[in-house]
Formats: sequence, structure tokens, C-alpha cells
Amino acid sequence: MDRTELAHEEVRTARGTRTGVPVVVAVHSTARGPAIGGVRIKPYPSWRDGLDDVLRLSEAMTMKCALAGLAHGGGKTVAVLPAGGWDPRRRTELITDIAEVIDGFGGRYRCGPDIGSTPEDMSLIHRLAHGNAFCRPESEGGSGNSSAATARGVLAALRAGLRHRHGDDRVAGRRIGVIGFGHVGRLVAGELAGAGATVLVTDVDTALAGPAERAGARWTTADLLTEELDVLVPAATGGLLTERAARNCRAELIVGPANNQLADDSVDRVLHDRGITWVPDVLASIGGIVHAVSREEAGLDETAANARVDRIGERTTDLLDLAADRRITPLTAAYRMAGPTPAPTPPAGPRPASVPR
Ligand SMILES: NC(=O)c1ccc[n+]([C@@H]2O[C@H](COP(=O)([O-])OP(=O)(O)OC[C@H]3O[C@@H](n4cnc5c(N)ncnc54)[C@H](O)[C@@H]3O)[C@@H](O)[C@H]2O)c1
Repeated sequence: MDRTELAHEEVRTARGTRTGVPVVVAVHSTARGPAIGGVRIKPYPSWRDGLDDVLRLSEAMTMKCALAGLAHGGGKTVAVLPAGGWDPRRRTELITDIAEVIDGFGGRYRCGPDIGSTPEDMSLIHRLAHGNAFCRPESEGGSGNSSAATARGVLAALRAGLRHRHGDDRVAGRRIGVIGFGHVGRLVAGELAGAGATVLVTDVDTALAGPAERAGARWTTADLLTEELDVLVPAATGGLLTERAARNCRAELIVGPANNQLADDSVDRVLHDRGITWVPDVLASIGGIVHAVSREEAGLDETAANARVDRIGERTTDLLDLAADRRITPLTAAYRMAGPTPAPTPPAGPRPASVPR
């Protein structure tokens, strides 16, 4: 990202009026339609780190929407929790603070869940911010937790990656490493183990060893980045693939849901030159968004929404074929497939917040 120019349409930073927690909302683009993107609630060393994250993530969302063919642009919310801890009893106040900032965008940005936020949080934001939240619980008319659809999309991309490398998408007998046994990682790991793969799982939270074993995976504390693997699935936080990691990586194929996997765009070239196939996260991770928009905006039923998610496999094949044919890296191919980022649309005039204090 060019740090000298603001690539985003609008960025708002506010101290939550109830909690004092910094809330940053970035709208990268609304040129194709309202911006969409998740609400990330987590500690950062400083609010500026949260700002950096929200700028990167919202820009990536614009590309994700373009690759998915959705009439939306990219946005994102980050609530910067104090590094020293946070009182979970103040959850409702925090979500209300977040809803207030989101509502100020007057519908130009619609949120969904991300790390640290849930369908129940979306329910409150939906109520307080004029319906501008996806993925409320199904009992309330939303499309619910997006993790299953995200995992489904990752699996479609993974199988397409295997087909690209081996001519078939068999996972049985393959050695697959999953970094992060969270909402998405555990579904991907369980599915692959069930299909006969040898699945190695690692997570910084060692309490997840038992659940991982019960899902049919093997728990490990080894660095999966240097393990000999057919497939590596990054399902934790971003920035994992540094240049050093890419130089030491011994996986053939990397595909996973984690956002912003590359510490730097240039790592894509390092992986490419080493013969490692990396499926860009901007494509592999879009299942949840595709599902939510298909259910809640297009009004599709579950079967039709899942069929759209499965098309991520075809898009992955298209992307890897394009990269191979043109001798370009997967990230360059992703940029080509997404097309030019539309010029930012100037924001409309200010709209009063309508959230009751
Ligand atoms: N949930 C979704 O629908 C969705 C959609 C798109 C993208 N993503 C992205 O996919 C990733 C996983 O999402 P999730 O919902 O499963 O998150 P999650 O918070 O439920 O799980 C992440 C897991 O990674 C672990 N972890 C964190 N840092 C780690 C590290 N350095 N090494 C090993 N483990 C580590 C955490 O302990 C946690 O168990 C995130 O990057 C998220 O932004 C998720």
C-alpha cells in the first residue's frame, strides 16, 4: 500500500463514547456498491496499529468483492482493545459504540462478523445501525455464523489447487498442516481428516489440542511453515508469510482463510520462484461473504448460496491457469481478474448518528 496517499474513500476514528475504546472504520470503495467487511475486536499495541490493520483489510475487501463478482466494495471495522485486558461485562456498551460509528456512514458500509465479533453482536448492530449488519443469527432472519461458508470456500479452493498441481483433487493420503484451530480452521481440519488426509494442527492456544485430536487431526507444536507438507492452510491471523518464512517453507500448496497472509506483496514472488503454489487469500477466504450476500441480499436458499460458494473452486482454477499461461504470480493474476480498483466515490454529506446513548 502506498502510504503517502489515502487510497480510501473515508476513514473514521472515534473514541467510543461509552467505553473509550478506539473504533476505526475504513471504507475503501463504494464504487461498485456499499462497502462490506467484518468487525474485528482485539487488542493492539496501539490504536495506530489498529488503523494500519483496518486500512489493509478494507482495501483487501474491495478486491475480494471484485473477485467474487459482488456489487460491493471494501470496508472494515477495528475496535482496539487495550493490550492489558478488557472487561467482557462491558460488551454491550462496546458493541453500541461500534454501531454508532457504523451508523454514521448512513448505509455506505455494512458490517459482518470477524475476529472477536459474533452473530449476536451483528444482531445488536443491525438494530442500532439501521440494518447495516450481515450474519445475524438465523433465528432472527440473518444468515448466521459465516465460518462454515468460509471453510467451504477454502476447501473448494484447496481442491482446485490440488487439481492444478496433481491433476486430481484427492485429499486422502495427503499431508496437510493447519495453522490456527479457530472457527474456520477446525472445520477445514475436521473435513480434511474425515476425507482421509493426515492433518497436522497447531495453535497458540494449547487448550485446543484435545478438540483437534477429537476432530481426527494430530496436534503438533512444530513450526508447520518448515514442515514437509502437500498443503499448508493458514487459518490464524495475517502476516504469517514473511520473506524468511517463504524461503524456508516446504509446503507445495498454500491455501487458507487467514486475511493478509503475506507480510509484504513481494513474498508472492518468492513463493512463486520456489515453485510453491499460493492461492491468494483474497480469493480463498471469500466464502463467508458470498454466502451472506447470497442469502441476505439476493434471497437465495441455502443450496443455491452454497453452490455460489463452491464456485470459488472454479475461480481458483481460472486464477492459477491465468498465472501459469501468462507466467505471472498468483497475486498479479488476482489483480488482473479483479480489474482496476474503481476510483473512490466522494462521501455524501454528514449524517447524524441515530444510536441512543
Ligand atoms: N470466520 C470467517 O468467516 C472468516 C472469513 C474470512 C476470513 N477469515 C480469516 O480467517 C482467519 C481465521 O478466522 P477464524 O474466524 O477461524 O478466527 P478465530 O479467531 O476463531 O481463530 C484463529 C485461531 O488462530 C489461533 N492463532 C492466532 N495466532 C496464531 C499463531 N501465531 N499461530 C497459531 N495459531 C494462532 C488462535 O488461537 C485461534 O484459535 C482470520 O485471519 C480471519 O480474519 C475468517
